Order: sequence, then structure tokens, then C-alpha cells
Amino acid sequence: MSADLSTSYLGLDLSGPVIASASPLTGRLDGLVALEDAGASAVVLPSLFEEEVEAEEMAFHEALEAGSGIGPEFDSLLPEVTMPELGVDRHLMRVEAAKKAVGIPVIASVNATHTGSWERYAGLLAEAGADALELNLYAVAADPSQSAADVEARYLDVIREVKAAVKVPLAVKLSPFFSSFAHFAAAAADAGADGLVIFNRFYAPDLDLETLDVVSKVSLSHASEMRLPMRWTGILRSQLPGTSIALTSGVHTGADVAKAIAVGATVACTTSAVVRDGANALRHMLDGLTAWLSEHEYDSVAQLRGSVSATSAADPGAYERSQYIQIITSLNAKR
Ligand SMILES: Cc1cc2nc3c(=O)[nH]c(=O)nc-3n(C[C@H](O)[C@H](O)[C@H](O)COP(=O)(O)O)c2cc1C
Repeated sequence: MSADLSTSYLGLDLSGPVIASASPLTGRLDGLVALEDAGASAVVLPSLFEEEVEAEEMAFHEALEAGSGIGPEFDSLLPEVTMPELGVDRHLMRVEAAKKAVGIPVIASVNATHTGSWERYAGLLAEAGADALELNLYAVAADPSQSAADVEARYLDVIREVKAAVKVPLAVKLSPFFSSFAHFAAAAADAGADGLVIFNRFYAPDLDLETLDVVSKVSLSHASEMRLPMRWTGILRSQLPGTSIALTSGVHTGADVAKAIAVGATVACTTSAVVRDGANALRHMLDGLTAWLSEHEYDSVAQLRGSVSATSAADPGAYERSQYIQIITSLNAKR
């Protein structure tokens, strides 16, 4: 009999521990259906980025204004125009369509810029039917007048405000760029985050040496990127026992999912693998996980979960040591 993969994430009952995190694939209905067929136990829709929806809405109004006012005869010929598939509506329609297309939980994601916008968008997405929300706290803290404490306080306000505005569960997707990450993670949970999604990847700009233009390039992750979220999941698991942890970045195989669960992740998320190889990559992950569990005589993912976290590992301090010295010494010894 194969192992029981069922999992509870943010209080949602999931069929398994692998969710499809936000990507262009989760923004298409055929992509969502393919991911569900491949065994995704939940999907996260692409983030509603406030800057993007504002730009779309502005472009639409400018286009309308350019076409109106030519003369009453011409205006009366213009069709009654609403704003379908643009701006915020595009995201709300996407949630509604996703809910009709798949039976697994649909998680909507927000990245806002203005005070008050986070809760407004979060409320609208929840009303449209999202089963949970993910706050994508993705910003480059480049303002020298803002201290780390200022930035953290703002993030915590956002979490509190959204939590007060919606009834659905709330996950918070974070970058690793905090000077005391364990402290901020605990504060985020206190502020109302039901789950932490660690870690988002920052897409750093590149330079085109021919044109000297700054170019943004999306690059897919490498398996080695899983080490950082693995370390932090291992550390946080026992510190935040009531908080879900979704491990993201570098999860490519069934063995990666087994590692994520072993260090204490509630679920593992995948984007790069499915963007590169299609939804079936997720099926391969689940098959690999199931084979590993059976080979190592685990009855369920629950039995594996957290067995190598900071409190239960054979060497509990291993997560917290910077092991440069050991690694450099061993490299030197090999020379
Ligand atoms: C093309 C692409 C689009 C993405 N869009 C979003 C997004 O809209 N919102 C978000 O929170 N993360 C987004 N991500 C980040 C992924 O959800 C994921 O957290 C990250 O890629 C790390 O996981 P991976 O190693 O499995 O790719 C995107 C990633 C890629 C590659």
C-alpha cells in the first residue's frame, strides 16, 4: 500500500504535499487543469501586482479618451465599454474561472504598493472565491531613510490589516533578506500569518554590455537553491509549531520534496520544474516521493514531517552553524 500523502496547509485539507506556486502556467486555465491532473494539491495564481494593474487601467482610460469627444455622432457609435480582462478585473475573473476549472484549493496572491491597497485587493480576491490568500511581500528596500525596523513594521501592518479584512487563511511569501529572520518570522505569525512561504526568489537585473541597458531576465532555479529555505524551515519548524511552512525555491524532484518534508515543511512548492518540463514534472515528483517513502518504510508524509528539524536532527546545531571553516578546511585538505 502506498503512503498517505494527505496534508493540512493553512487549515486546508490537501491531497498531497506539493503545490504549484505562482507562475505563468497557473495563470492559464489549461495549465491549472494540467497541474491538477498531475497531482498538484493546490495552485497559487500569478500575483496581482498593483503597479501592473494600475498601468493597465491607465492605458485603457487613455485609449478611451483618445477615441471619444470627436463628436456626438461618433460617440454614439462607440460601443458601451466595460473593462474586461484588464486591471483588477482580470485577476478577479481569473479566480472565478480557476474555481470553476479545478477542484483543488485556489490561492490568490497580492503584491501592492500603497497603504490600503493590500487589504482592498485581498478582500476583492477573497470575495471572488479564492480559498486562501498569499501576500507576496516582494520589494527591494533601497530607501536609505527607511531602517530595517521601519520596513518590518510596515510589513507587519500589512499582515494585520489584511488579516482583519478577510476570513480566508493567509500565507505570507517572504524573501530571505532580513537581518534577524527568525524574529521577523515569529512576528509575522503573531500578526496573523497562518503560513510562511519561504523563500521568494529575487530576479536581479543584468546588464547588456553592447547597449549598456539594464535588462531583467527571469531565470529558472537550480536545485542547490533549496539549501537556504531548507535551513530556515529546519530552524523555524519547532519555533512556530502552529504555523504552516511552504518551502519554495529549488524543489525539482521527489527527493527534494522528501527533504522539504523531513526538515519540517508543511508543503513543497514548485514553479521552475513545471515551467521547464511541463505539469508532468509534478507527477514525477509525487511518484519519486511515494517511492522514497515506501523504500524507507514511511506510512505517511506526516510521519516524515520534521524528523530532521532543528530539534529532532541528530545534530541540532547543524542548521545554525556557518560551516565555511569546515568546508574550506576540507577543500584545502584535498588539494
Ligand atoms: C516565470 C515566473 C513567474 C513567477 N511569478 C510569480 C508571481 O506572480 N508571484 C509570486 O509570488 N511568485 C512568482 N514566481 C516565483 C515562484 O512562484 C517561486 O516562488 C520561485 O520561482 C521559486 O520556486 P522554483 O525554484 O520552484 O522556481 C514566479 C517565478 C517564475 C519563474
